[in-house]
Amino acid sequence: MSGPTGPAPFLQACRRQPVAHVPVWFMRQAGRSLPEYRRARGNGSILAAIAEPELAAELTMQPVRRYGVDAAVLFSDIIVPVHAVGFGIDVEPGRGPVVEAPFRSVDDLRRLRPLEPEADVPYVTEAVKLLVAELDPRVPLIGFAGAPFTVASYLIEGGPSRTFARVKSLMHADPGLWSALMDRLADLSGAFLRAQVEAGAAAVQLFDSWAGALSVTDYERFVLPTTRRVLAGVADLGVPAVLFGVGTGELLGAMGGAGAGVVGVDWRVPIDEARRRIGPDVAVQGNLDPAVCLAPWEVVAAEARDVLERAGGAPGHIFNLGHGVLPETDPGVLGALVDLVHAEGRAGVVP
Ligand code: CP3
Repeated sequence: MSGPTGPAPFLQACRRQPVAHVPVWFMRQAGRSLPEYRRARGNGSILAAIAEPELAAELTMQPVRRYGVDAAVLFSDIIVPVHAVGFGIDVEPGRGPVVEAPFRSVDDLRRLRPLEPEADVPYVTEAVKLLVAELDPRVPLIGFAGAPFTVASYLIEGGPSRTFARVKSLMHADPGLWSALMDRLADLSGAFLRAQVEAGAAAVQLFDSWAGALSVTDYERFVLPTTRRVLAGVADLGVPAVLFGVGTGELLGAMGGAGAGVVGVDWRVPIDEARRRIGPDVAVQGNLDPAVCLAPWEVVAAEARDVLERAGGAPGHIFNLGHGVLPETDPGVLGALVDLVHAEGRAGVVP
């Protein structure tokens, strides 16, 4: 039975089972768009906030309380594992991850030793345990990791990039080194996901945010095998996995075969077409353009209804934005969006 005491709609939709209502959560739902986040966070470094389990748990809970979303996403970051093994990476406010000495040669592999979760990231498992104790079981906690390509892009470029020129040139010029780097990062991501699930996370998301920079040929040759390995490495845990990237329209078919039960899509491809490209046995997550949330409510509502209609019918749709919440978003709009999806979403809803 579904309903107020039944199973979690988010997990049911991930498994393409019938749901009581279409589940919804937002990437980057915790963050600068929330006044309570800005108050609780202060001006310290984000990595320091992540390393305080009580604070990380509180920041994770804030959007759950305010919006009534169907999933919580752990307050953490994709660079936590590489930071924890001492690669030398930080997060610059307003810019993102920055590396003082970028990855250049085979000698740099030494800076990526395996992750020992109990010793290296005890605060992450501690935050997960606090959250699992606090959350309503119908609101599962999503753990996450960066996919090897996206993490590699920061390590090699030294920061955010527009062209990914250095990453692409390394993968083509030195495929052996590239594959050794991807292997190390796959081990780190896999260990990080496993630790979160063993502590109680009920689902995982693998963020390959920047994979859309690649041609499908390069994606299949240089990235997909490693992504597959990460997902296969957590398959025995029995929790749903979401694979997400931005600008992946041409990659969706390949991503659908990566071994994730759910593929997250951005707004560039309508979700019905995205579903066709991903294939029949995979659920979809998305895909309202986050910038639309800055428009008047009538526009937001019409665009959200369009997503719901296109996804309607077949089970296996999780409503989300096509990428993270923009900091200037009015939290009232996101709250109203959750209500609209719950009231009007039809994909896989038990009549
Ligand atoms: O609510 C949530 O979604 C959970 C928290 C979360 C953060 N980072 C916290 C954070 C998640 C899921 C991430 C993942 C992440 N981090 C990704 C993949 C998702 C995506 O956006 O594609 C990437 C590429 C990163 C790397 C990163 N960390 C970036 C690009 C930034 C933004 C820089 C900025 O200031 O705009 C960060 C910092 C960061 N991670 C912030 C938050 C809330 C903002 C800075 C802060 O509050 O100090």
